[in-house]
Amino acid sequence: MIEDVYYLNNSYPMPKVGLGVYKITEEEMETSIEAALAAGYRAFDTAYFYKNEIALGNALKHSDIPREDLFITSKLWNDYQGYDKTIEYFTKSIENLGTDYLDLFLIHWPCEENDLFIESYKAMEKLYEQGWVRAIGVCNFKQHHLERLMEETDVVPAVNQIEVHPYFNQQELQDFCDKHDIAVTAWMPLMRNQGLLDNPIITDIAKRYDKTPAQIVLRWHLAHNRLIIPKSKTPDRIRENIDIFDFNLELTDIAQIDNLNVNERQGKDPDKVAIGTLK
Ligand SMILES: NC(=O)c1ccc[n+]([C@@H]2O[C@H](COP(=O)([O-])OP(=O)(O)OC[C@H]3O[C@@H](n4cnc5c(N)ncnc54)[C@H](OP(=O)(O)O)[C@@H]3O)[C@@H](O)[C@H]2O)c1
Repeated sequence: MIEDVYYLNNSYPMPKVGLGVYKITEEEMETSIEAALAAGYRAFDTAYFYKNEIALGNALKHSDIPREDLFITSKLWNDYQGYDKTIEYFTKSIENLGTDYLDLFLIHWPCEENDLFIESYKAMEKLYEQGWVRAIGVCNFKQHHLERLMEETDVVPAVNQIEVHPYFNQQELQDFCDKHDIAVTAWMPLMRNQGLLDNPIITDIAKRYDKTPAQIVLRWHLAHNRLIIPKSKTPDRIRENIDIFDFNLELTDIAQIDNLNVNERQGKDPDKVAIGTLK
């Protein structure tokens, strides 16, 4: 369905809802992926850092979905920034996944104090130019990181994957990305179910629409032109999280959720992450 797909700035289509697989273990992977594919997911978000690329690749191979119908994202881990290492660890990621290309390859964190993200991105441009990857982008880039990247490299990132949820809506960064045709993907879109999904504003809206709180929050992300990669290992929730294309939120409800913003991150501040600070 066209409504489910977002056309990136190079016209490559990316499903609006993907399954985030951070913390999905090898034991859980088969069941989660089977449920996800049956529910209609075609996009999967992993990373070298998650140590589950092999399990994801195996689970996808056990399905009969052709590779070209899947959208696989992986990320360059901080420790492997730098031109040559980027190429080396991209190769490891595709080997782990058992595929010969990635749909999207992202820098995981800028790690600005190490000053390697420009050359890492240049290696990604090379991979893109050579057809190893359909689109390239970044994660956790603030406006100042993006400005420098766009000044010093050629390919405008297709995606910036950042922490976004109703308590931390990053509207200014979203506006900047919208202006430059960089698609925002929300990580932690459900705030890891830590006190957001029982907020009375959300539960009241959910009751009115006869939807679940998670569906309301996910639909709110879509209303803001974002892609989403909710993680779940639970088949019922996996189905619930993609079953959001049969309704729209009224503007007043979107505004109510916008008003929940308190500008508080749950995750790390990208300016404080350097190579070696995250294990
Ligand atoms: N680029 C980055 O730096 C970065 C950082 C963090 C995450 N990510 C990506 O973003 C993805 C999503 O973020 P996240 O995993 O941090 O957080 P999230 O998707 O906001 O939340 C996942 C948590 O919410 C629960 N959940 C899922 N659906 C639910 C539902 N319908 N109702 C109630 N609870 C539900 C899950 O439980 P169960 O699994 O037990 O069902 C899990 O505990 C990750 O998997 C990863 O791919 C990227």
